[in-house]
Amino acid sequence: MKKRKTAAMMNLNLKLIMKLGLTSIVILIITGTRHPAFAATPSDSAKVEQEVDSLLSRMTLAEKIGQMTQIDRKYLKSDSDIAKYYLGSLLSGGGSSPEMNTPSSWAEMCDGYQSYALSTRLKIPLLYGIDAVHGNNNVKGAVIFPHNIGLGCTRDSALVEKAERVTAEEVAGTGINWAFAPCIAVARDIRWGRTYESFGETPELQVEMAGAAVRGFQGDSLSGHSLVLACAKHFVGDGGTTGGKDQGNTVCDEATLRKIHLPGYVEAVRDGVGSIMVSYSSWNGLKMSANKYLLTDVLKGELGFKGFLVSDYAAVDQLQGDYSEEVKTAINAGLDMIMVPEHYRRFISTLTGLVNDGKVPMSRIDDAVRRILRVKFAMGIFEHPYPDSSWTATVGSPAHREVARACVRESLVLLKNKGRVLPLKKNLRRIVVAGKNADDLGNQCGGWTISWQGSSGDITTGTTILQGIKDAVSKETDVIYSRDGSGAKGADVGIVVVGETPYAEGAGDRTDLSLSDEDMAAINNLKRAGIPVVVILVSGRPMIITKALKEANAFVAAWLPGSEGEGVADVLFGDYKPSGKLSHSWPKSMSQIPVNYGDTKYHPLFPYGFGLTY
Ligand code: BGC
Repeated sequence: MKKRKTAAMMNLNLKLIMKLGLTSIVILIITGTRHPAFAATPSDSAKVEQEVDSLLSRMTLAEKIGQMTQIDRKYLKSDSDIAKYYLGSLLSGGGSSPEMNTPSSWAEMCDGYQSYALSTRLKIPLLYGIDAVHGNNNVKGAVIFPHNIGLGCTRDSALVEKAERVTAEEVAGTGINWAFAPCIAVARDIRWGRTYESFGETPELQVEMAGAAVRGFQGDSLSGHSLVLACAKHFVGDGGTTGGKDQGNTVCDEATLRKIHLPGYVEAVRDGVGSIMVSYSSWNGLKMSANKYLLTDVLKGELGFKGFLVSDYAAVDQLQGDYSEEVKTAINAGLDMIMVPEHYRRFISTLTGLVNDGKVPMSRIDDAVRRILRVKFAMGIFEHPYPDSSWTATVGSPAHREVARACVRESLVLLKNKGRVLPLKKNLRRIVVAGKNADDLGNQCGGWTISWQGSSGDITTGTTILQGIKDAVSKETDVIYSRDGSGAKGADVGIVVVGETPYAEGAGDRTDLSLSDEDMAAINNLKRAGIPVVVILVSGRPMIITKALKEANAFVAAWLPGSEGEGVADVLFGDYKPSGKLSHSWPKSMSQIPVNYGDTKYHPLFPYGFGLTY
């Protein structure tokens, strides 16, 4: 792929530097000014533009507004509405699955929807979106990767690219052509329930991983070879809200917003990301879905984003005024596709009325549809509207699970290893494993797994951390599971797996991140048995661990590792050395939050980047 500097972009950067001063120079140097890799070559681009022009000129207003409409499949009144309203896109929100949750029923379902779109006069194919945020996580049997917080600790962007390529194959294998990922939030306050969806607290990590993830999904450019359209989210400042409140308000000046929260988008655009989701959150009191300056002037203008902007789920309904006012504000601000997701007839008639009354200019509608069609043509889905069904057999394959297992072991961060208790020998006589997260696939996967919020228990195919330990040790070793850690006397070592249970979005906002009484009791019971204690923390963020850390001989942060629990054993038993580095500063107490690398007073329990090895 050729990356060029254009005179126009250099000019723009000069203007920016004059406007924003020195801090921006640093960002611009880091992020560079390559030409967006939106299509493989300039001639591909020109061809796409011609196709778009020709199609757009033949479209009625109803067909155009249909392209701008996205609904959750569960709200479709009748499948034939796809054709009747010329819908441009459907989605499955978290857990919006077919009755039989198998890869082939997903593929069948999506192919069925696509055939309605192709039955229309202009045969414009659908984009079908899904939150494939750690693997194709709604689908039973799909490989579940560690959530982004763990991937950030790997500092291994090549591995992240590989992981997203695997995810893209598993998404394509279910008949789906659009992933609402990567989430490139910069989580600045770990009380936020979406902290684990972010690669970490610094823009450097966001930049490092954003491009890799986009390339993993789409390839080097958006083209007929792209398996899946990527969607960077949530633009912009979602991780900067006051108090870590989900969908809250990010209060900062523009230079700070550009320095902390924007660089990942510069990178994603440069790597040709075809879609970007606009955040529910506000910036200095103004909802992002209403922020014309940031959506249109900065993202589409300055950064040269050529793809389309999709709203978040029912986000438009949160704007001010009646529904008509809300839709007008969002579309005029620059949103191109609206994740309605339910009352689509109302959305379509409202937007039609606004255009007919001159309140939304036709030029804005044309720009939105042009952007959506550009992505559809560039991806080649007019020629190949049905993803290649040969990917279906790869969903959850051993080869895919191997990649996830590598992600797990690289994401582990060793925080303490007193007396070099780790690595453990594989031929110990007796190991007691304790804790509520030791033998719970749902807990180790976290939110956004099979359902939106995730849940405890045997929710899909995979290996628990306990099973991984059992598989790793010698035939002579007894591995005993005691949830509360009782009866551990006489064992060689106790391994206790504690932490959080699943949540997603605002349901995970917390004011207290201490370990539960149940977790502390399990740790203390092992301790009382007089054996070395290894604590493994399964959580979507750093927690307050000062007491537990004192009791532990060794302490490992495992984040939300996903379906491949063997990755934990790989490191515990020394087949691989720990190499993970913290993607977050680790606070001593709740009162120290927020704490971020670069703060003037910076005395965390463990600094950003910390991680021991053997
Ligand atoms: C989330 C998005 C997600 C969308 C669709 C929203 O609630 O904020 O991240 O992509 O739902 O499921």
